Amino acid sequence: MNLAAAVPGFPGNQTSLNPVGPGAVHIEHTLSLIFWITGTVYCLTLAALVYFVWRRRHTLGSLPAPEPTTDEGDRLASRAVGGAMALTVVLLFLMLISSFITSRRLGKMNEQQALTIDVYGHQWWWEVQYPNEAEPYRMVTTANEIHFPVGTPIRIHGTSRDVIHSFWAPNVQGKRDLMPGYNTDVLMQVDKAGRWRGQCAEYCGLQHAHMSFYIVAEPQKDFDNWMTAQAQSSVAPSNAQTIHGQQVFLTHACVLCHSIRGTSAGSRVGPDLTHLASRSTIAAGMLPNTIGNLGGWILNPQALKPGSRMPPNQISGRDLQDLLAYLETLR
Ligand code: CUA
Repeated sequence: MNLAAAVPGFPGNQTSLNPVGPGAVHIEHTLSLIFWITGTVYCLTLAALVYFVWRRRHTLGSLPAPEPTTDEGDRLASRAVGGAMALTVVLLFLMLISSFITSRRLGKMNEQQALTIDVYGHQWWWEVQYPNEAEPYRMVTTANEIHFPVGTPIRIHGTSRDVIHSFWAPNVQGKRDLMPGYNTDVLMQVDKAGRWRGQCAEYCGLQHAHMSFYIVAEPQKDFDNWMTAQAQSSVAPSNAQTIHGQQVFLTHACVLCHSIRGTSAGSRVGPDLTHLASRSTIAAGMLPNTIGNLGGWILNPQALKPGSRMPPNQISGRDLQDLLAYLETLR
């Protein structure tokens, strides 16, 4: 179909009409079939209605005299109704079968070669882990931006840390609910490099609308480089300003909720910040990751995202500048 993606100015990176993986392609086929069947039926019904109104236009305004019924007319009418009913049943079965085939296909991907990524829903952000069984100390933890190698099957192993969320990147695959205390696996694959936006699709509280994420699909080589960089500990601060900035981080409330690998900050309440500066957004895709947005966010997250778990912070101007300078080094 791809109609929506053809509209000028429409980004096309959060729509099931522009599929970039096998799962979304199957869904789009069913969607197209249902769209064309229901669209055609709708137009034909309206056309019939307009035709009969037009035929009777001379009698509008006064009570039409009942037409004398004939056996021939009765037979025609009951044949038309019977035919329409039979057609309706056939069309409904077509849609049912298509939907059934689609759901069977969605589960069929090369599971053996799939790369597993753990995704945890939080109010209101996404925790993302790349488990590494061979070298557990090299496990990568990030947030809200999920890197995929292009053309590789991915198993999203999902659950929730609090309430029910739903993981949905419409260009890639159908929705999957993430429930607390329950693990769910969903296979997906992206065949086209790009940033595909996803969104929590289950109402989960005040900031449900600001719980988005990106699937960053990139060639295998770029993905490997990214993984290697993410597996490193954070860079040590190298000048007086960033050394002081790190001290600010470790002596304020930041350390109570966040991790920066390579420092004493190891809490997992909020997003892991070890490579914060490598991410292009903050606050679950809500704001571009600029120094200004980060400063505003640290001082008063409640003004930007009311109800968020992060409290306002009282940090003096000089301390804040050094803290931001330090966070900017966390590539
Ligand atoms: Cu999480 Cu809605």
